[in-house]
Amino acid sequence: LSASFRLDPAFTVAPVSRRTFGSFVEHMGRCVYTGIYEPGHPTADGDGFREDVLALTRELGVSLVRYPGGNFVSGYRWEDGIGPVSERPVRRDLAWHSLETNEVGIDEFVKWADKAGVEVMYALNLGTRGVQEALDAHEYINQPDRTHLAELRRANGSEKPYGIRMFCLGNELDGPWQTGHKTAAEYGRLAAETARALRSADADLELVAVGSSSSSMPTFAAWEAEVLEHTYDAVDYISAHAYYEPLNGDVASFLASAVDMDHFVDSVVATADSVGARLKSKKRIMVSFDEWNVWRQSDFEASLGNLSSEWRIAPRVIEDRYDVTDAVVVGNLLISLLRHSDRVTAACQAQLVNVIAPIRSEPGGPAWRQTIFHPFAITSRLARGKVLRVEPHGPVYETARFGEVPVVDAVATHDEEAGEISVFVVNRSQDEAVTLSVPLGSFESRTFTVAEAWTLTDDDLSASNTADDPDRVVPVTTEGVVIEDGELRLTLPAVSWSAIRIT
Ligand code: AHR
Repeated sequence: LSASFRLDPAFTVAPVSRRTFGSFVEHMGRCVYTGIYEPGHPTADGDGFREDVLALTRELGVSLVRYPGGNFVSGYRWEDGIGPVSERPVRRDLAWHSLETNEVGIDEFVKWADKAGVEVMYALNLGTRGVQEALDAHEYINQPDRTHLAELRRANGSEKPYGIRMFCLGNELDGPWQTGHKTAAEYGRLAAETARALRSADADLELVAVGSSSSSMPTFAAWEAEVLEHTYDAVDYISAHAYYEPLNGDVASFLASAVDMDHFVDSVVATADSVGARLKSKKRIMVSFDEWNVWRQSDFEASLGNLSSEWRIAPRVIEDRYDVTDAVVVGNLLISLLRHSDRVTAACQAQLVNVIAPIRSEPGGPAWRQTIFHPFAITSRLARGKVLRVEPHGPVYETARFGEVPVVDAVATHDEEAGEISVFVVNRSQDEAVTLSVPLGSFESRTFTVAEAWTLTDDDLSASNTADDPDRVVPVTTEGVVIEDGELRLTLPAVSWSAIRIT
């Protein structure tokens, strides 16, 4: 098979938003406890944070971290997590049927985020709580001094306000599973009232209204339309969440998951713009794709009964082990997010550690990179400057879920200042390699050389990384990549993800 696409500096989508490389830390399973935080672990620092996990977080290239949930946040009382740890209450977490010890709260998390070098995106509870509690959380977080909650934060050891800019107005309130599930009208009113109140305290905020939990929700698009009718002037973002898996063993469709993500974003943008048009507004609502990943959710749903048998602290929940195909799909989802950089300016892979995560850690033991770590880390490192739209010409294949889809999918970025181009590309074919040629015609006044080229694939697509064999699956230098006759040429093995930086 063969495919090609042109690179042209004029085909600019938008600047690369660093917030595209966000992640998510929820008080769920072992993401916080024995994930980022484990006092007593051999690598724990003075604050109880695992240095091994911190180092991997930095290496992953994470820019933004959503916290503290997820479904968890819809029953969370933020004030349980402040003050002397020994006095903090243990509470039931209804979302994951476990016990929350509250050893980690906002003060600890901001400390961790500073060490990791990431921006915090803070999610407010609009499930069981309302405007006043959102204002209180905001006052504790961002008010400089002199008010009761600002002084409480200072007394708790943080003199300076945290300066968090992005706040999520709740989580997945369209879902019947959510504590405090609401209709679009109920949620839209509450989100608008909360947003307006927050803005009168702090004009600079970037607020995210809850969008659909997946594109298969029966209320998909209708929910966004109604919520935005209420909140259009008061918010900046609408959220999107999507998880992908090979349903009933359908790997061909799974490999094309980015087609669904493209459709999801396009539909939300169209819906938001249509509300804007009706409201005669020039404002454009952005998409915060603040939960996305591969997750074998049907396995989890089948095992839901086990969750409710007892109340455990930091139980092992959805610790999916990722394989080669999963990594290719994750690489492709990042391609989809990048190509929508004009409207998706924040995104969070869910989650960071242990819970459907690129980083795994064992209590008292090692931390390691799952297969999906690699495309994320390389894309975050190489995607610089502006995103360039590309239009691959090449073979197509038939899928049960999405009809006919292209075998090759790609995006590029162009860093004009550094004089560099990065290309990110997948081959979704399960049995054939593709010869790819990329004419650099529009850059012809320049002579390029290949600075680095990585390919992630394997003869055994089910191979994964474990504590005993943490580097079983790693990207390797792409063989035979050349620039000849004004073209970048390489071979994309079947089921592979590649990234090439030329300079
Ligand atoms: O990331 C796991 C869960 O998936 C989150 O808590 C929830 O928001 C989503 O349904």
